[in-house]
Amino acid sequence: MAMVSPSLLSADFTHLGADSKMVLDAGAEMLHYDVMDGHFVPNISFGVPVLKSLHAALPDAFYDVHLMIEDPYTYAEPFAKAGATLITFHIEKGREANVLRPEYELNATIEHIHKLGCKVGLSVKPGTPAETVFPWLDKLDLVLVMSVEPGFGGQKFMPQALDKIALLRAEIDRRGLECLVEVDGGIGADEATGKACADAGADVLVAGSAVFGAADPAAVIAALHTY
Ligand code: DX5
Ligand code: ZN
Repeated sequence: MAMVSPSLLSADFTHLGADSKMVLDAGAEMLHYDVMDGHFVPNISFGVPVLKSLHAALPDAFYDVHLMIEDPYTYAEPFAKAGATLITFHIEKGREANVLRPEYELNATIEHIHKLGCKVGLSVKPGTPAETVFPWLDKLDLVLVMSVEPGFGGQKFMPQALDKIALLRAEIDRRGLECLVEVDGGIGADEATGKACADAGADVLVAGSAVFGAADPAAVIAALHTY
């Protein structure tokens, strides 16, 4: 069964706590928290104080923090202190795919996040090959495959993500690692997105608009859980 991490970017921010509680009550394993700085991606979302409030209201939730920011090293500590359970950052340095962070920065950031007591994820944008994360797999708790260009909810799923999920799944299993594979962007409870990702080997399905835009979000979470 795939785990579900509803993306709070698509929640109604006037009742973020109630929306978060609703998806947790519906069985969602995590809350996906998309942080955007207006530099790494052309959008700004929410940051540390909102996570702190959520964590105070719902202290037992798993906070799946997805940093789409230029400087994850510096901001890891405030997000960890605000309640992050998992902190995922991007292997890419900025908006361009294929311009990757240098090896020393990746190693230092992974180690720093672990020392802060959080799990660590590394993410790849649609234009970055899955193999770029292979050298770090044994240090990671999760790899996040983006199935849209990061920056906005409600975009269309890019099916090229399926091959990347399958490649990562095969490599993680071949090496007997614990690392989870998560997929994010354009996912719903249909065969072409949610089911296809789970079949390709994804452990965690992120879904924003498909959950919070639905008349019955609990039914969407239940449907994703069948994959
Ligand atoms: C995009 C974010 C996603 C987004 C997913 O930059 O990382 O988490 O909120 O939203 P949907 O599921 O609507 O594509
Ligand atoms: Zn995300």
